[in-house]
Amino acid sequence: MLIHSSSQLLSLANGPQRGKSLGTLGIIEDGAVVIRDEKIVAVGTTSELRASYPDEPRLDANGCVLMPGFVDPHTHVIWGGDRANEFEMKLAGAKYLDILAAGGGIISTVRATRTASIETLIAQTRPRLLRMFSHGTTTVEAKTGYGLQTATELRLLKALLALDDETPLDLAFTFLGAHAIAPEFKDDPQGYTDLVCETMLPMLKEWWGTHAPRMPLPFVDVFCETKAFDLMQSRQILVRALALGFPLKIHADEFDNIGGASLAVELGAASADHLVRTSDADIAALGRSDTVAVALPCTPFGLAEKDYTPAHKLIEADAILALATDCNPGTSWNESMQMAIALSCRYMGLTPAQAIAAATINAAHAIRRSGTIGSIEIGKQADILILSVPDYRHLGYRYGTNLVKQVIKRGQVYSVDVGYYRTA
Ligand code: NIG
Ligand code: FE
Repeated sequence: MLIHSSSQLLSLANGPQRGKSLGTLGIIEDGAVVIRDEKIVAVGTTSELRASYPDEPRLDANGCVLMPGFVDPHTHVIWGGDRANEFEMKLAGAKYLDILAAGGGIISTVRATRTASIETLIAQTRPRLLRMFSHGTTTVEAKTGYGLQTATELRLLKALLALDDETPLDLAFTFLGAHAIAPEFKDDPQGYTDLVCETMLPMLKEWWGTHAPRMPLPFVDVFCETKAFDLMQSRQILVRALALGFPLKIHADEFDNIGGASLAVELGAASADHLVRTSDADIAALGRSDTVAVALPCTPFGLAEKDYTPAHKLIEADAILALATDCNPGTSWNESMQMAIALSCRYMGLTPAQAIAAATINAAHAIRRSGTIGSIEIGKQADILILSVPDYRHLGYRYGTNLVKQVIKRGQVYSVDVGYYRTA
């Protein structure tokens, strides 16, 4: 299939964009792309590709922007119940970590998740994933973390594997058994940490070998934070995971700076995420590393807090900056990477071009898939968006409605919007 006559094709070619190179879109005016068998086989101008592929079936992009599908590299998309009541409490002044310490927050979602059947979990998660897809996310990272006991954590992974199979999206899996101290260990956080290390991680490795033998091992993530896992406990869990062969991620500096970002760098984690309170020394460490700095602007927005990830300091330090939604019931129930882009432009000072690179090629690198997705380049998977806009800067500038017109996933075309642009 030849997709032709775009206004701009954003190729995002040449790999993850570090520091000041962030925002290199690789624009081809009147760009076109040829797809065969799920893969991209040619990229160029419309006239070039029409000449070299005269007999290819055609899809007219009709003066719209063509770009790679969004990659959302940090979500907690599977959970039971909701926390609408806590949203009201927070608006009245309650603090997120205090609600958690009082047995609410993550723990209240854990209660609702533990009692939900796998069918219910799948049925509630499916529409969230499909909303992501219709808003242009073609690959999504999905964490467990609302079980906090082996059986429920594995049930969440089983549901996620089923959703990976049945939806058009590709999922990247993360085990977040260390999302909070399990209620049974309320007064013994070290006991829960030991359980994660000595029981859950080895069982996970064995379980994965039987349930998903052809998939790479999931990431292991830790909520490194005051009132969750301290730096020593986070290190214990991540070191154990690394020894078992798992790739790593970390939640660091969402509320307090306790050293999680430097730990991630030291252990070669794929990403360190949140990074709102990150110290200058930790920012410098990220800048010297291949650990992607994942900013989650929907989270402070969702919590009505005023501090966001210091994107410019990270860029100055030469870090690889990415964006994600953090979709979860407590801080950010939002499925749209377009919203993350719009917020990053306003509250992190990114340009639309920088935000787009952070939401595609750099986000792909945060889940270590930048070799196969995140850009429109020959040989890559054909995950492409047709946006119903004439200029890429409409991303960021506009918000709250969906700018995606069609999603091409592994070469299959899915129509999304009503198509007011189809007149031309
Ligand atoms: O990334 N901070 C930890 N995890 C989520 C929130 C999860 C929840 O509150 O349910 C986050 O913001
Ligand atoms: Fe998170």
